[in-house]
Amino acid sequence: MKRVHNFSAGPSMLPLEVLEKAQAELPNYKDSGMSVMELSHRSGLFTDIITEAEKLLRELMNIPDNYKVLFVQGGASQQFAAVPLNLKKNGKADYVNTGSWSKKAMKEAKKFIEVNEIASSEDENFTYIPEVSTSTIDPEADYVHITTNNTIEGTAFCEIPNTGNVPLVADMSSNILSEEIDVSKFSVIYAGAQKNIGPAGLTVVIIRDDLIGNASEQCPTMLDYQTHSESGSLYNTPPTFGVYIAKLVFEWLKELGGLKEMQARNEKKAGLLYDYLAQSDFYRSPVKEDSRSLMNIPFVIPDHDLDAAFIKAAQAEGLETLKGHRSVGGMRASIYNAMPVQGVEDLITFMQKFEKEHQ
Ligand SMILES: Cc1ncc(COP(=O)(O)O)c(C=O)c1O
Repeated sequence: MKRVHNFSAGPSMLPLEVLEKAQAELPNYKDSGMSVMELSHRSGLFTDIITEAEKLLRELMNIPDNYKVLFVQGGASQQFAAVPLNLKKNGKADYVNTGSWSKKAMKEAKKFIEVNEIASSEDENFTYIPEVSTSTIDPEADYVHITTNNTIEGTAFCEIPNTGNVPLVADMSSNILSEEIDVSKFSVIYAGAQKNIGPAGLTVVIIRDDLIGNASEQCPTMLDYQTHSESGSLYNTPPTFGVYIAKLVFEWLKELGGLKEMQARNEKKAGLLYDYLAQSDFYRSPVKEDSRSLMNIPFVIPDHDLDAAFIKAAQAEGLETLKGHRSVGGMRASIYNAMPVQGVEDLITFMQKFEKEHQ
């Protein structure tokens, strides 16, 4: 069997152990004579899966009891609308603009509320995380929205801003479960699954329970957090297979030692690549040192005409999907939880070789 090192930003690689477990269980899940895909979402077997998935996620992230965990659909992009529709009180919110995904979140929210951009790094092409000072936050804002990890630009918040009494909402799509976080600092966390959780189609929402039940009248039933909270994420048919794979990923994470161990691994992997980039005269990281992501690492080479040659030669060595996002160019290595250290070491070995050949 040939497996490559897949550096895709999303959907991204999943742990091989998880794929193998799913494969072994696929045609006949727990002697039901069916696969998980064929199980009723109201069956006892699926109830066990979704209950266990939630339990494991709570354990891994140390989610306090006054938070609900919702398994929904529509991707993180749907949350761009769900958040303002559910949290609207005074009809205005503060957003930190750190890149393409923040911009999309702001654009969508503007359809429902007044959006105030309280900090931005657009002046330098989103290569850093701007400071968010408490004094710039409107105490009357319904919430402050941040994108904790900017998948395209390769930046991440090293410190979570203190928003006082104003609820903090985070799009954590590309760094959820990558390191230990204090959930109680956030009021809402949402993430599309297709990076660190499982397959595309599942979205996780973690929300403080006092914020549920206040959706504005125009909020569609399927976007109302109360709908999913009341029904245990079973109001309609949830993405059952996605929830099942997420459960396997959570088991895998727990067995490895949880988020503490995962953070150590992620710091090691990212450290190897950043250290290599720092000493190289050929490659360059466009991101400011204090704003670097552990998950998505963009890098450029002096001659852009060489980008295509780099991608092609990397592919020949089993190093896939290293092309940077079309809005940024260059290369990007996404090294989510499932990427082994070996994957990063192999990438660096290849980069050294390419550098020698093209310097
Ligand atoms: C930070 C961030 N937010 C939002 C999205 C959009 O997610 P989805 O495709 O699940 O709507 C992505 C997708 O890559 C992302 O990286």
